[in-house]
Parts: sequence; C-alpha cells; structure tokens
Amino acid sequence: MRVSVIGANGKIGRLIVDRLWAVDGLDPVAMVREEAQAAALRDRGVEAVTGDLEGEFAAALAGVDAVVFTAGSGAHTGKDKTLLVDLWGAVRVMRHCLARGPRRFVMVSAMRAGDPDAASGGIKPYLVAKWAADEWLLRSGLDFTVLRPGGLTDEPGTGRVEASSRIERRGTIPRADVAAAAVHCLRAPETAGKVYDLLLGDVPLEEALR
Ligand SMILES: NC(=O)c1ccc[n+]([C@@H]2O[C@H](COP(=O)([O-])OP(=O)(O)OC[C@H]3O[C@@H](n4cnc5c(N)ncnc54)[C@H](OP(=O)(O)O)[C@@H]3O)[C@@H](O)[C@H]2O)c1
Repeated sequence: MRVSVIGANGKIGRLIVDRLWAVDGLDPVAMVREEAQAAALRDRGVEAVTGDLEGEFAAALAGVDAVVFTAGSGAHTGKDKTLLVDLWGAVRVMRHCLARGPRRFVMVSAMRAGDPDAASGGIKPYLVAKWAADEWLLRSGLDFTVLRPGGLTDEPGTGRVEASSRIERRGTIPRADVAAAAVHCLRAPETAGKVYDLLLGDVPLEEALR
C-alpha cells in the first residue's frame, strides 16, 4: 500500500514516514514543501515529492492507496494560515481524493475539535478550522478515520493510549503514539468511519482503537 503523508516534514509526519518505512507492505510517499527536504528523504530511499497545500500538491497523491493528513499551519503563523492550511488545504486534498482517489483518508486533527464552543480564547479559531475540516471529511463519502490527539509531547511512544469518541479529561500524548495510531489505522479496517479522541493511556493501542 502506497501512503501519501501530507505534512511529512512535521514532527508527527516524520514519525509516520519512518514508521511506514519500517512496516512491510506500507510505502510512504512523503510530501514536503522544500526540494532540499525531498532530496534528503530520497537519499534515505524514501519516495518524496514537493507540494504546497496553498498551491500544487497533485504529485503527492498520484498512484497512492491512502492519505494521512498531518499538516498544520502551527502556532507561529496567523489565523489566515489556520484557515488556508488546516481548513482549506485539507478540503482541497479531500476534493482531490474524491475526484481522483485515493478513498482511504486518515486525518490527524485535534482534541476538542468536536466542540469548539467549549473552548475560549486564542485556541478557538484553530478548533473551528479543525472542526470544519473534520466535518467535511465525515460528510465526504471518503473512507475516513479522524484522530483527535490531546496536547502533543516529544516523549518516547508507549504504545498505550486512551481512545474513544469523546474524552472529557484534558491530557497529553506523545507524537510517537499518534504516529503509531495513524499507521495502525491504515491496516485496521475496523477503524474506518470512526472519530477518536486520543490521549496517553494504559490500553494497548490496537485494542484501544478496536
Ligand atoms: N501542538 C499540539 O499540542 C497539537 C495537539 C493536537 C493536534 N495537533 C495537530 O497535529 C498536527 C501535526 O502536529 P505536528 O506537531 O507534527 O505539527 P508540525 O511539526 O508543525 O507539522 C506540520 C507540518 O505541516 C506542514 N505545512 C504547513 N503549511 C503547509 C502547506 N501550506 N503545505 C504543505 N505542508 C504544510 C509544515 O511544513 P514545514 O515543515 O515546511 O513548515 C509541517 O511539516 C497538526 O495539524 C496540529 O495542528 C497539535
């Protein structure tokens, strides 16, 4: 299975590419914004293409069987980029998938995106953008899984999470566990059509996502 990773130079994206690379039968196609980043990946034997969610990205989706979308405009850009990347960039990729494939789509969203009104302050526009992108995906007819992790850390992965359609408590999760969950979903058909809040927990990931 060839898997397009949108946001492959990001912290989670890199972990997903490495994980796909390590799993038999899953081949990453890493989409990055800079040619130098693509060249560095190719030097390691990873298929890589350049693309920009605000511009052209079709090469990243050519001939792939699934997409993992883990791009985001980040905390250091303005709300314009939240709109243009986290929301509109995601919608543009989904539209492309509907028109030309692939059908399988794993979205790395964010916890609390299911209910932006429950949040206040500066985070709310971000959560609204994530909510709208997720909602678009849920109604698209694509074969989706939405992962909504809590606060991300760079701690080592544990392989143990708490996952359910809605988790009320606040918490964190290592990026490595989010990456492992995204890759697992690609090989676990029972995760299709599901939306998961995701936190560090004590249940083995495969079991928690069942
Ligand atoms: N921070 C948190 O606690 C938290 C919690 C829950 C969910 N999330 C979400 O989790 C996702 C991944 O997180 P992360 O830590 O891996 O983020 P990250 O390291 O900031 O990675 C985001 C990636 O998106 C790429 N990107 C930005 N604009 C783009 C564009 N126009 N076209 C193509 N790619 C673009 C960036 O490219 P460059 O490398 O070129 O800049 C970067 O590689 C994000 O969507 C984030 O919103 C974050």
